[in-house]
Amino acid sequence: MDRRTHTDRSPSPEVRGAVGSGIKGGWTRARWLLGDAEYEADRYRDEAPVEFVHDLVAAAQDAGLIAATGLYIGCGNGRNYLPLVAAGLDLLGLDVSATALEQLGRRAPERRGHLVHGDLSALPDRLRFPLVIGIQVFQHGDRATAHSHFCSAQERVSPGGLFCVRVNAVGTDVAPCHDVTERHRDGGFTVRYLEGPKAGLDVHFFSASELNGVFGSAFEPVLPLRRHDTSRTMPNTGRWSQWEAIWRRKD
Ligand SMILES: C[S@@+](CC[C@H](N)C(=O)[O-])C[C@H]1O[C@@H](n2cnc3c(N)ncnc32)[C@H](O)[C@@H]1O
Repeated sequence: MDRRTHTDRSPSPEVRGAVGSGIKGGWTRARWLLGDAEYEADRYRDEAPVEFVHDLVAAAQDAGLIAATGLYIGCGNGRNYLPLVAAGLDLLGLDVSATALEQLGRRAPERRGHLVHGDLSALPDRLRFPLVIGIQVFQHGDRATAHSHFCSAQERVSPGGLFCVRVNAVGTDVAPCHDVTERHRDGGFTVRYLEGPKAGLDVHFFSASELNGVFGSAFEPVLPLRRHDTSRTMPNTGRWSQWEAIWRRKD
């Protein structure tokens, strides 16, 4: 475990090696152009952090992880990353959107050395973290893609480390116009949007049993799965639901 003090904000040598390594693996610019376009349209810039941030900081404090270097997968342009860092967490921010990272770097120039452009394959294979965070990132793609992403992220959690997740939940009134492309007997389903900023993209919605199954016996709950519902504001209707949970990897 990283024993640096809270005030030492330089990345560890291993993490330093990862920073600036750029995109490796299968991501193509075309696939994430849409994500960049959303950030170019100022998506998330003025959005408040999700309340889950408070649970996450409390869990990290309880586990004595405030000074350790954690990993935030899909950190975006900072609505949650910045409050987490302000609360004392030292987070390596990973994102496939160069635009999001550029915006985050402008908002917090002192964090530029802690941001990595790419997906998990951009990090050295051996790199593990005592704290891994994914907020609204593991829902991208169909069921197999979403499960495989979770699996790769779980491998990055050190024994005894925490994995903090907020992800799309069944119970959401899915909008705008979409096709349901797969539906599993455990309740999980995938949609392909036909309109809106995600048109043409697959997005997965997890059921509780599906998500608990993804974590299986190798992890134990610290904050058991709970559903957070957000009512859409007029003229939109219905609700948008997310699972929130924190798991500890068993030794
Ligand atoms: C819905 S946004 C959420 C951003 C941030 N977590 C927040 O709550 O503000 C999802 C983010 O994950 C990024 N992303 C999607 N797939 C990723 C992957 N496989 N690895 C790293 N980042 C990814 C996107 O570029 C985007 O910035």
